[in-house]
Amino acid sequence: MILLDGRALSKKIKEEIKAEVDTIRDNGGNIPHLAAVIVGDNPASESYVKNKVKSSDFVGFESTVIKKDANISEEELLEIVEGLNKNSDVDGFIVQLPLPRHIDPDKITLSIDPKKDVDGFHPYNFGSMAQGLEAYLPATPYGILLMLERYEIETEGKEVVVLGRSNIVGSPISILLARKGNPGNATVTITHSRTKDLDNILRKADIIIAAIGRNHFIKADQVKEGAVIIDVGINRIEDPSRKRGYRLVGDVDFDDVSSKASYITPVPGGVGPMTVTALMLNTLKASKLK
Ligand code: GUN
Repeated sequence: MILLDGRALSKKIKEEIKAEVDTIRDNGGNIPHLAAVIVGDNPASESYVKNKVKSSDFVGFESTVIKKDANISEEELLEIVEGLNKNSDVDGFIVQLPLPRHIDPDKITLSIDPKKDVDGFHPYNFGSMAQGLEAYLPATPYGILLMLERYEIETEGKEVVVLGRSNIVGSPISILLARKGNPGNATVTITHSRTKDLDNILRKADIIIAAIGRNHFIKADQVKEGAVIIDVGINRIEDPSRKRGYRLVGDVDFDDVSSKASYITPVPGGVGPMTVTALMLNTLKASKLK
């Protein structure tokens, strides 16, 4: 079994980005600037945004965090987005999800200028991605592609089973792996809560991508010998032995499944860091396009 070490690979790619930013700086060019909007105090969101700022610092980007109370109105948030759309100092920005219930996330996503949508969530970018046109790829699927590419995992002709059909992971990674290209050219099955006979579908998979947010959902008896396992789940479970009172586990029961897998991502330290690195690559691209 080979561990797909997202932390080490992210560091390597971020060092490549840093070298490029150093060259841009030496030549007096435009230093990439990422902004993040965070609403409320969801601890997981705060931790994700903190990691995005830390990575921005590492690669030499400028970064700005706009933090607002959970009671901000939808109109006020739309005004902030409009301000970032117009701010020529900001190359790309994200609005961290989830948002409070009184704010429609689709309305916010639609209001982001697709040219600054480094999350790749706007339908313009999603549609362009689906048609194989130039686009910002959504960060988590992009991070998974980078991982498959750098570890030289073949996807052509492989049976890929994706668990989950969200707009930000399941649906786009399915499209990307079925597209012409490398990684790509796979035969992809999307499964979800209404799928019948999931166990038999999973047992045929050469590559499993789990993105359902249910801790330790996948066990060894559902997995073919030699399968590649990509675990997108980041689930908090209570753990009184830890100082913070919880630990993070994936959608895959790592200890059970790892003996059968050819490659497997750990949680934490697998897909999570790759998502942040993909966001850095999108921001670099945004600054170059400008
Ligand atoms: N919430 C969970 N993942 C993401 C992400 O990739 N981007 C944003 N904006 N919010 C998220």
